[in-house]
Amino acid sequence: MDNHRSKQPSTHYDVIIIGAGASGLYCALTAGRRGRRVLVLDHANKAGKKILMSGGGRCNFTNYFVEPEHFISANQHFCKSALSRYPSWEFISMVEHHKVAYHEREHGQLFCDDSAQDILTMLLDECAAAGVQIRLNTEIKQVQTINDNGKDNARFELITAKKLGKKDVANAANTSKTYYSCESLVVATGGLSIPTMGASGLGYELAQQFGHTLVTTDPSLVPFTFTDKTGELLRALSGISMPVVASNTRTSFKLPLLFTHRGLSGPAMLQLSNYWQTGEHITINLLPDINVSDLLLAHKQSHPKQLIRTVLADNTDNALPKKLLTALQTTLWDDIKDTELANIKDERLIELGATLNGWQLKPSGTEGYRTAEVTRGGIKTDEVSSKTMQSNYQDGLYFIGEVLDVTGWLGGYNFQWAWASGFVCGEVV
Ligand code: FDA
Repeated sequence: MDNHRSKQPSTHYDVIIIGAGASGLYCALTAGRRGRRVLVLDHANKAGKKILMSGGGRCNFTNYFVEPEHFISANQHFCKSALSRYPSWEFISMVEHHKVAYHEREHGQLFCDDSAQDILTMLLDECAAAGVQIRLNTEIKQVQTINDNGKDNARFELITAKKLGKKDVANAANTSKTYYSCESLVVATGGLSIPTMGASGLGYELAQQFGHTLVTTDPSLVPFTFTDKTGELLRALSGISMPVVASNTRTSFKLPLLFTHRGLSGPAMLQLSNYWQTGEHITINLLPDINVSDLLLAHKQSHPKQLIRTVLADNTDNALPKKLLTALQTTLWDDIKDTELANIKDERLIELGATLNGWQLKPSGTEGYRTAEVTRGGIKTDEVSSKTMQSNYQDGLYFIGEVLDVTGWLGGYNFQWAWASGFVCGEVV
């Protein structure tokens, strides 16, 4: 660490937060309300870009049912303290205080009635009321510790520069650096997903600069892609959505599946991606409410002249979509497609039923950070205080939100983690 203080005068704040996203803004308004002088720096041209694009533009801002089990981390206990000190109703009451209209969808998910902009406006208004300053288009060039025994208690110095637009490049004055110092430095730079929205690895670099370890990062809450023959099959089915049970050896979700021109998406796949490692198979139960083997064997007895496709198409509530049924027939039982059930061996019907109740697929990968909603992995939580989010290695340094190795399920959990970790940190910085 460079302990040599630069000669240039710096502007001092009690708290500097890098990242004007969900966690950064929440931390800022919490610290600001305590009378702390807070500055938020962000290289993007707008605060809270991910909030604006979240939940299909309606921001699934939290969930009625938040439990530690809804989060993935190398240390499953880390998230407990912050989540219990800042439960979802705290955020809901702020939403209600600001008269933001919202509604509940399935599984306790809360969305804005109108627009995600309402949530961002609420946070920015709260920040303004708490005297928080936000500086956008600001690149962080360097962060270093300083020893200032004066009244400011300055521990960190940040060297920043205005982010240059195309027009600015020719103007040398715009390249000048600005120096800031602060007592507490909060890293709220989020994960790597959607680089076009301002995602960068700065948080991880800063963590490593101060001796922290990273848990491998991967795109998560992300659709699966397929390149082999399965890919062709799935592409042909693009647009079909249906309820399934998607599982692997670690977990299982009963949610809608969506066939896309790249592979498989929809809530079932996004949730499963949180638990998926490259090279693993996934299992999809296409008819989760029935045992297909039993159904086919029963029909063989009661309607021996029926064809397999007739049984599966007529199966009232649980019928497979026609296009999918045709495609599966071509792939799985083309040789017996016109054979009456009476003439098909039980073993074949049992095997076919097992396949439809447990379709094994091997994704070639995921759509990656380009479309992933979150980044799994991040700064190792064993090296951070679960009560305050302070670094175990550097006094006054804090990490909050998605940059940490805490990944929520789909359903408002990632924002709840951002608010909760931002809150507990904002209480102490
Ligand atoms: P966040 O990403 O919000 O903020 C990080 C900030 O740091 C950004 O403003 C960025 O510009 C800034 N930054 C990064 N690098 C920097 C650098 N080098 N210098 C300066 N600033 C830098 N979750 C949920 O609960 N419900 C939902 O509905 C959705 N929907 C959703 C849709 C889509 C399309 C995406 C991509 C994500 C979601 N999420 C979600 C996830 C949610 O958006 C995410 O988990 C939180 O925004 C994380 O909050 P953070 O504050 O940690 O990072």
